[in-house]
Formats: sequence, structure tokens, C-alpha cells
Amino acid sequence: MTISNTASRAAELRDTLNRANYDYYVLSQPTLSDAEFDTLSRELQDLEHQQPELKTPDSPTLRVGAPPSQQFEPVQHPVPMLSLSNVTSEETFNAWYQRALDYLEIDSADLTLELKIDGLAVAVTYVDGILIQAATRGDGTQGENITDNIRTINSVPLALDGDDVPGTIELRGEVFYPISAFDRLNEEREAASLPVYVNPRNSASGSLRQLDSTETAKRPLDMFFYSIGYAENGQIPNSQYETLQSLKQWGCKTNDWSRRVTTVEEAMTAIQNVAEIRPTLDFGIDGVVIKIDDITLQDRLGAVGRDPRWATAYKFPAEQAVTKLLEIRTNVGRTGAINPYAVLEPVVVGGVTVSQATLHNEEDINRKDIRAGDHVIVQRAGDVIPQVVGPASDNQRPDDSQPYRIEPNCPACGEPVIRDEDQADIRCINSTCPAQFERLLEHFASRGAMDIEGLGEKLAKELARQNLVSNIADIYTLNERMDDLLAMERMGEKRAQNLVDAIEQSKSQSLPRLIFGLGISGIGSEIAETLSREFRNLPNLLEADAEKLTAIEGIGPILANSIREWTLHEPNIALVQRLKDLGVDPQDDTPEAAADHPVKGLTFVITGKLDTFSRTEAANAVKSLGAKAVGSVSKNTDYLVAGADAGSKLERAVRLNVPVLNEDQFKDILDGKLPDPDAETPAMLV
Ligand code: IVH
Repeated sequence: MTISNTASRAAELRDTLNRANYDYYVLSQPTLSDAEFDTLSRELQDLEHQQPELKTPDSPTLRVGAPPSQQFEPVQHPVPMLSLSNVTSEETFNAWYQRALDYLEIDSADLTLELKIDGLAVAVTYVDGILIQAATRGDGTQGENITDNIRTINSVPLALDGDDVPGTIELRGEVFYPISAFDRLNEEREAASLPVYVNPRNSASGSLRQLDSTETAKRPLDMFFYSIGYAENGQIPNSQYETLQSLKQWGCKTNDWSRRVTTVEEAMTAIQNVAEIRPTLDFGIDGVVIKIDDITLQDRLGAVGRDPRWATAYKFPAEQAVTKLLEIRTNVGRTGAINPYAVLEPVVVGGVTVSQATLHNEEDINRKDIRAGDHVIVQRAGDVIPQVVGPASDNQRPDDSQPYRIEPNCPACGEPVIRDEDQADIRCINSTCPAQFERLLEHFASRGAMDIEGLGEKLAKELARQNLVSNIADIYTLNERMDDLLAMERMGEKRAQNLVDAIEQSKSQSLPRLIFGLGISGIGSEIAETLSREFRNLPNLLEADAEKLTAIEGIGPILANSIREWTLHEPNIALVQRLKDLGVDPQDDTPEAAADHPVKGLTFVITGKLDTFSRTEAANAVKSLGAKAVGSVSKNTDYLVAGADAGSKLERAVRLNVPVLNEDQFKDILDGKLPDPDAETPAMLV
């Protein structure tokens, strides 16, 4: 074949294969047999192999994945990827709709309804119709470049169809793991005695975030497209409903259920219909997205924080099902708490097969009168771990049934467990209990603590089980035991070196993170901050007596006791010394709170997701300036700081005329700049 012949043959193969792919994965109407598809794929692969310049960015051979990358590159979203406020009843839906109409000063506006797919939002960019980039939502402003992974999803077009596609266009939608495939996956894992995955959403997320896209290619991910992020050089539709039609014409998979309605009543009928069809869907949904249809109106409505005024989500109530509770088992948390959980006869709740559910503690189990052998109500809401609500109304209890009592010995190490009179809390206090140590190590390395990349649940478990690490300080000597590390499964030189480097880096983490990482019972990151400010380093904390501890605001006798128990325990004293010897001895040098900061004495409520702080960090920041951070909004609240997904607290603040700050305004306040009381705050725009 001549060069130009090969080029045109390659182009022909690409078109045929992409078309066949579309017929199969988008239309579910196969037009080529598997054998034909494979033969043509191989022919194209061979051509591309002989002449690599023939490999185009829309070649179907890219669907098998690309060489693994080291990390995902950040992608800045030119138009932020927003989140959604919620409504849960016709009443709140109506209120949302009326607010939008009032804002626009109009009497009615069409609504487009779409299923709210329970997956992950992604943005896919096409230039001249060719897929050139895909990114995760991330924090809405910045996501991760997952182009190679997205190309492996067969229903995502590598090239858009039609001559009306704008020159540059970013399309958005939801990637999901089909429920049937998820159930199969878990059946296989169960058969192989591997731990099962929690839900399809996590599996979709895990699959998309594989650095090796050939791994993603093995997962049956799918995607529904639902909007246009932005477009240049071309026309885009002026309504959401028409956008869906255009997406479909361009070859993107859209969800067929979508519809346009003109009233809230009509919308409610449609929403009721969703509750009926929900069990028949092969993907998880967690509600219905309601969008003002007209894009011009959407633009006028804009957003409050991260939530658009032009869209909201109608969320369904938690789903319930009845099944048999086969057995109550326990596991051991990192602070030694013995946690009971229910082993259930598998049951589908909200589209997911549930075979385990949490039970709080012995007291709660008995208060709800839940016993092994009972038929119980299991509940699942969105992402939350399934819970056992209580016995079913027609429960037939076995004659020999007994109230639940936790086993007297730790399920992991066999040592007797201790019951705390005050706290309904039962724990194993054996500091060498392997279950606790595995969890502790995982916690120590976790993001909120020492943030050691690469040291997650699995590795923590293996390091502990192989006795490579039997004390937290041991990880700081792993660099001297490279051979042992390399002997571990799936541990190549590069991974081992990265791990050791990450561990070394963690030596410079702050004192609050270290204190939090130690896993002292009752010490969350907030109290860790307080202790850090108060004691300035870890050896000082060891010296703190009960009196000094209880004098600190936020530390009561129970917490003081738990800290004392820890600091008096001989192995912990040795641990602190050893950490110090190994160079892990951070000092807190935060200056004392400025006496005359303008926020001193004010009361803040922090809600929603902030970009640059956790809520705890934000609360600590105001506290360190002498202000209060409280949990609920009242007339006495001076400011509500509202991040993304702010819900009822924001509504309440608006109702009570409490000034609302966005993150930037909040930062200004921390810098000592109080806002101009006459300026229009976001609260006034609601
Ligand atoms: S529209 C307007 N449409 O829901 C901003 N989102 O809670 C929201 N989602 O991050 C995007 N199905 O991951 C939209 N049909 C749909 C959706 C949908 C699922 C997700 C999306 C978004 C989240 C917001």
C-alpha cells in the first residue's frame, strides 16, 4: 500500500470502528460482530504500529489505555463546575421555584428535569470535534486531567459528529459504574475472599483515578452527558432541553428520561414516576435535577456561592428494605473501640446490594431491641453506610433469641475488653492489639494527619502484618530497610523510594497534625490544634497534668482523662522520645492571638465546603482571634461563612438577616478587614 493509501485506509478503519462503537455502546444496537470488530481493530493497530504518524487523537485504539502516568496533572476549569442545592418536598421545591421567578420578576419559566446520576462529574473538551482533554470536577475550580482514562469509556465519543459542533466545546456529564456490573464484580470478589466494594459510585471513582489507564479500560464505566460547560467558535442551543438534543446528535450518550415541564405540579408527577422506575435502572440515582430551561434566564440567575440559582436537586428520602439479620459481629477501631456491625442476608436497597450494616453500640442495639435472627429494616441514604433501623413490624423472632451482648474478648487480639461506665463504650486497651495498630498506622499517615502519600489502608495493613512496622516511629527507619520493603508484594523500587521520600517529608508536618495522628481517643483535629497552641511541642504535652488540661477551653474531664491515660502509658512516652530522636518533633510557633483583632468577641457559623480551609480549620482560625465558632445560626450570629453546598444554615441566616460571607470575604475578615456594612453581601442577593 502506498503512504496515502495507508492513510486513507486508517481513516476508514477509524470511522468504521468509532461508528460500530457508537452503535453498540450508545444506541445498544450492534452493527458489527465481535469478531469483525476485533479483526478491523487489529488491522488498524498494525497500521499505526508501522506508521505511528497515523495515530490520531480519535483513534479507537486509544480505548485500551495509555502508558501509566506518575500523577494526574491539575486542570483549571475555565467555567467552574457547580454543585446543587437540595429540595426534599413539593413545598421546598415550590419555594425554590418562586424565589427564582421573583428574582427574574417573571410569572413562569419552563423546567427541564433530568435524573441525578450518582456518579462523578467530568468535563470533556473537544477541539475541532476531537476529544483532547477530560478532567474531574475536583473542587469545582480545579480538577485532574484524566484524559487517558476517559478515552477508555466506550460510550464517550472520541470525535463528535455533525457540522454544527463549535470549534472548541467543553461537555459535561456523569461517569458511573453500572449496577449489574458492580454486583458481578462483588460476587467475584466474594468468591475470591476479597473485600467487597462499598458502592458503585466509589468503584467509578476508583476506576477513573487509576494512574494506569489500561486498568480503567478493564472496568465497564459508562457516561451520560448533560450540559455544555462553555463553547467558542460556534453556536450552542439556548435551552437546556435543546442542549440535550444537540448532545445526542453529536453522538454523546444522554439519558432518555429527561423531559421539559411548565409547572411544579407537572414536575412532581414526573418525579413520582422516577421513584417507580428507579428499581429498574442499571445506574444509581440520588434524585432529579431540576433546571430552569432557558439559558438566558440561567445566566441572569447566576449562582450563590457554588450553587446555581437556576438548578436544584429533588432528593429522594432514604431507601429502606427488610432482610434477615444473620449475625452481629464486631471489629476493632484504631482507638480500640469495639464496633458491632450486622451481617445481613443480602438485600437490594436503593439499587445496591447490602450485606453488612453498621450498628452503633451495645446499648443502642438493645434500646432498639435488635437481635440476631430478627427481620430488620435496613436503610441507605445516598452515600452513607447502610444502617439497621430496627426490627421490621412483622418480625418473627426465633424462640431462643437473646438480647445482644458484646463478646468479653477483643475479636482481634483476644484480650479482655474494658467497659467504660460513663460512655456506653467498650474498648480493647491492649496497645499491641494488631487491629488497632493497623488502623492507627493508616490514620497516622492519612490526609488530615501526617499526609504520607502512598501509605494507605492496604500498605498499612501489610507493613503491620509482616512486622516491618510495629510502632509508629518504625516507619521513620524504613529507609534503612529497603530490602525488606522491596520484598513486599507489588513493591517496586520506585514505589518504595516514593514511600520513603513521603515519610521523610512528613517530618516537617505541623504539630496539630502529629497530635491528631497519634490517635488519642477523643482527639480530633480541632482539639489537636488547641493542644498544639497550648503546649507548643509533644514532650510538653506529655508533662501536662489533669488540672492544666481541664483549664483549657474545650477540654472537659473525659477528654483530659483520655489524654492523661495516653501520656502516662509507658510505651507512649517511649514513642514520643523515639519520634524526637528520629527528627519528628514539630514546634508550634503560632503567635498569641492579637488582643485587638476586630472579630474579637463575635460569633461565627461556618457551613458548606470551603476551598482553602476545612470547616475545622476555619473555626480554629476565628477562635485564634478571640471570636466564637458555633454550630447553629441564631439571631446572635454575627456572620455565616458559606462555602459550597451550604444548605439549611444558609437559608436560616438569610431569613434572620445574618450577614453571609463567601470565602474571600471571610479571608479578608481574618486579615482584619471587616466588610463595609453598606456593601451588597451575597446574603442580600439570595
Ligand atoms: S448539572 C448545575 N445534571 O450532581 C450544576 N448534575 O450536586 C450541576 N449530577 O456535580 C450540574 N446528574 O456530579 C447536573 N443531570 C445532571 C446530573 C448532575 C448528576 C451531579 C453532578 C454534580 C452534582 C451536583
